[in-house]
Amino acid sequence: MQPLVLVVDDEAANRTALERILVREGYAVIHAEDGPSALVQLRENPPAVMLTDLKMPGMSGLELLKASRATNPDLEVIVLTAYGTVEAAVEAMKEGAWDFVTKPLRRSVIVRKVRGAMEKHSLVMENRQLRSALARAVPDEMICRSAPMRRIIEEARQVADSRASVLITGESGTGKGLLARWIHRASPRRKQRLITVNCAALPENLLESELFGHELGAFTGAVGKKEGRFDIARGGTLFLDEVTEMSPTVQVKLLRVLQDGEYERVGGTKTLKTDVRIIAATNRDPEQAITDGTLRADLYYRLNVIRVQLPPLRQRLEDIPLLAQHFIARHAERNSRNVKGISPEALEALVGWSWPGNVRELENATERAVVLSREEIISLTDLPPAIRSHRAAPDSLTFTVGTPLKLVERRMIETTLAQVDGDKTLAARLLGITARTIYRREAEWRDE
Ligand SMILES: Nc1ncnc2c1ncn2[C@@H]1O[C@H](COP(=O)(O)OP(=O)(O)OP(=O)(O)O)[C@@H](O)[C@H]1O
Ligand SMILES: [Mg+2]
Repeated sequence: MQPLVLVVDDEAANRTALERILVREGYAVIHAEDGPSALVQLRENPPAVMLTDLKMPGMSGLELLKASRATNPDLEVIVLTAYGTVEAAVEAMKEGAWDFVTKPLRRSVIVRKVRGAMEKHSLVMENRQLRSALARAVPDEMICRSAPMRRIIEEARQVADSRASVLITGESGTGKGLLARWIHRASPRRKQRLITVNCAALPENLLESELFGHELGAFTGAVGKKEGRFDIARGGTLFLDEVTEMSPTVQVKLLRVLQDGEYERVGGTKTLKTDVRIIAATNRDPEQAITDGTLRADLYYRLNVIRVQLPPLRQRLEDIPLLAQHFIARHAERNSRNVKGISPEALEALVGWSWPGNVRELENATERAVVLSREEIISLTDLPPAIRSHRAAPDSLTFTVGTPLKLVERRMIETTLAQVDGDKTLAARLLGITARTIYRREAEWRDE
């Protein structure tokens, strides 16, 4: 594909002259006769380099340069200036122009400077590609050994290639953000962007313009016009984190986008179409939020097309050893530590802890241990004191006075068995009876 140059000049003769020079050099050329039509070209047909006259009626070349930065940040700009007005050209360089050319235009100068700008542009693009390849090479890996997590990943894989909205719920630190990124990457939209908006982080009016964008002067402080996240995420995925924290006004507007795919910028009248996939997350119970009147039921049904509920870590203990190993490797690498594993006692303590902060808390505890450990293997003393000293409290039973002894015996045996994973020999030893007694009792209960 030929590299594309946009030529902007109000004089047709200049446009033709420049086009002739550039086409002979093998560039594809488009042109515009003023700033506003140049901006349309920039959006619809993004060139690598723009050559623009500085002095034009209406919008000046300098204004065009500033406006282009918002829409085409990688564009290289060369300004054309009349002899004797070099100050304006210097001003343009300060604003980020690559170079300037004084009129009358000379072929050799034009060719040399456009070539330079093209080289700069392709270097920038190449760098960007390298960076994103690097980001793809180290994806956030998702550990899922336990049965509930395997089911969740299976389900996520199935829904990834649809456009259906997904609502992810689960306690803080259970991996909602990670799962949202996973779904985006497994979807056909993976080459487009994943845009995240934390709905709790912004006050109402800012959230609205953040999501939908705003027109010039839409409200006090609205300098210039701004694209919203719905614009930026077009073709990709929009991740609405803490979605239950949205104000009623924003909820109504969001509902409309979900229903009709339409919205207006704040202060705007033009109706815009969108094409985004919505993934939402919350660590609150959405049904409860509806009851409390903070979440609209109709919005909830639109978001909740597919529901993924991430279980707390204490309900999937099998994931802990693998997660711990995963985080040890990650943080040993990041902190340049030669830590390779974890001792059985330390691992037992990790499995015995209740993890109110879920996977994030486990990651923090592991990182701390990696940094503190003097050995290749993390030991009990490297763990946070609370986790280290914690011993899983045995379940206790309460009976009212007069409870039949037969029932007391049954509950006691059953609860003890549950605590030792059904190991009858161990349960019998704890209860001071023989294992045979337990077998006999179980047979009796079956007959009852
Ligand atoms: N299954 C997993 N495998 C590997 N890493 C995980 C897993 N689950 C969570 N993590 C890691 O734990 C940390 C917390 O996860 P994340 O930020 O996705 O949680 P969250 O549910 O979005 O929390 P919050 O509600 O506080 O926003 C992250 O560093 C994430 O990469
Ligand atoms: Mg999160």
